[in-house]
Amino acid sequence: MIYLGSDHAGYEMKNALGDYMQELKQECVDLGVFTGDSADYPDIAREVAEKVSENPGSFGILICGTGTGMSIAANKLNGVRAASVTNETMAEMARRHNNANVMALGSRLIDIEKAKHFVKIFIETPFDTDERHQRRVDKISDIEKNRK
Ligand code: RB5
Repeated sequence: MIYLGSDHAGYEMKNALGDYMQELKQECVDLGVFTGDSADYPDIAREVAEKVSENPGSFGILICGTGTGMSIAANKLNGVRAASVTNETMAEMARRHNNANVMALGSRLIDIEKAKHFVKIFIETPFDTDERHQRRVDKISDIEKNRK
């Protein structure tokens, strides 16, 4: 399952990615925003990240102007590993090495075709099951558990 969300800056790209998910026959829930009116990115990042946190194995895709605010906010939730992605290597490696479950995109940095390409890479790339990657991701979880 993919949970999709954006603020006003990512609204058009979010809608285009929703259509693309349908084309790919990928189950997807659009959590908004549903108009182009000004919206605060932490609100939607929270909604999407809560769903990802509650549903292991699901992914989130968040779009704002740069992807930065969305990734910062989403990473505050337990079990969420949000990666800001601006090229295909980042899309692939966020999955392979970091087991990222949320991808944050910047609508002011990339066009819709690139966004689709990065989304496809992200959802199709597995986490490398190599022990060293798992150990490092486990250490991220330890930081989360001992959060001050
Ligand atoms: C909105 O103008 C912009 O600040 C927001 O979309 C995002 O880029 C924040 O990180």
